[in-house]
Amino acid sequence: MNPTVLELKAVSQAYEKGHPILQGVSLSVPQGSFVSLIGPSGAGKTTLLRLFNGMVWPLSGEVWVEGRRFDTLKGKWRRQVQQQVGMIFQDFCLVEESSCLENVLCGALGRISLWRALWGNFPEREVQKARQALDLVGLGGREDTLAGSLSGGQKQRVAIARTLVQEASVILADEPVASLDPGTGKAILELLRQLQETQGLTVVMNSHNVEQAMAFSQQVVGLRQGRILFQGPADVWDAEKLRGLYRRDS
Ligand SMILES: Nc1ncnc2c1ncn2[C@@H]1O[C@H](COP(=O)(O)OP(=O)(O)OP(=O)(O)O)[C@@H](O)[C@H]1O
Ligand SMILES: [Mg+2]
Repeated sequence: MNPTVLELKAVSQAYEKGHPILQGVSLSVPQGSFVSLIGPSGAGKTTLLRLFNGMVWPLSGEVWVEGRRFDTLKGKWRRQVQQQVGMIFQDFCLVEESSCLENVLCGALGRISLWRALWGNFPEREVQKARQALDLVGLGGREDTLAGSLSGGQKQRVAIARTLVQEASVILADEPVASLDPGTGKAILELLRQLQETQGLTVVMNSHNVEQAMAFSQQVVGLRQGRILFQGPADVWDAEKLRGLYRRDS
């Protein structure tokens, strides 16, 4: 079994007092695995992902990233760990008026000075890295194309290339193919799986597409009302467990 790269230990979280979102969640993600979170809207999937990139703090419990206690880290130590964790989103989060290359170079911002970045003066090695990343995601030759003029699938490829330039070891993917047609969505998930298998990346994905989550993941975690109801590989999930996960409270 590979070492654990992401871990929650009895984590609870609330955005407002008296309204718990996550309730005593414990989870460990092995390095180099593909894990999906499924569950009804509002279950806390996005909140759980955000714990791992520091956009959300736990009220209690512990968040561990790459063997380091993350939720109590501050300053540059916190940023070092954040560098390891890339994120991609349903709506891609690109600068539409900038080129593909410039968008991908944003992944290098943690390594270069703000002034160099503001002047667009990126070191040649970073530019090379960004070109290679675009090649790897199938967008070689599109360096100068404006991100805003790309299709949704191409935009998600640029966002993935940005995490590669960030040199992240983990990609958190919050409904990464929810805005794409089925064929394009499948191609993006295949790219993520290819990166997981060939580059040793860990992928944690939120999805409302149960079939896709089952097809692409080694572990599927079912979250309901802020608690893990069930987790396991696709073959141990059955119709009854899925019904329990998505049942409507009357
Ligand atoms: N920034 C915030 N401030 C206050 N409440 C929030 C905030 N973000 C999320 N919530 C609430 O936390 C709960 C869980 O939200 P979250 O986005 O984690 O769920 P989700 O499982 O990702 O849902 P979906 O499948 O619809 O994306 C919801 O009730 C939501 O309204
Ligand atoms: Mg969500």
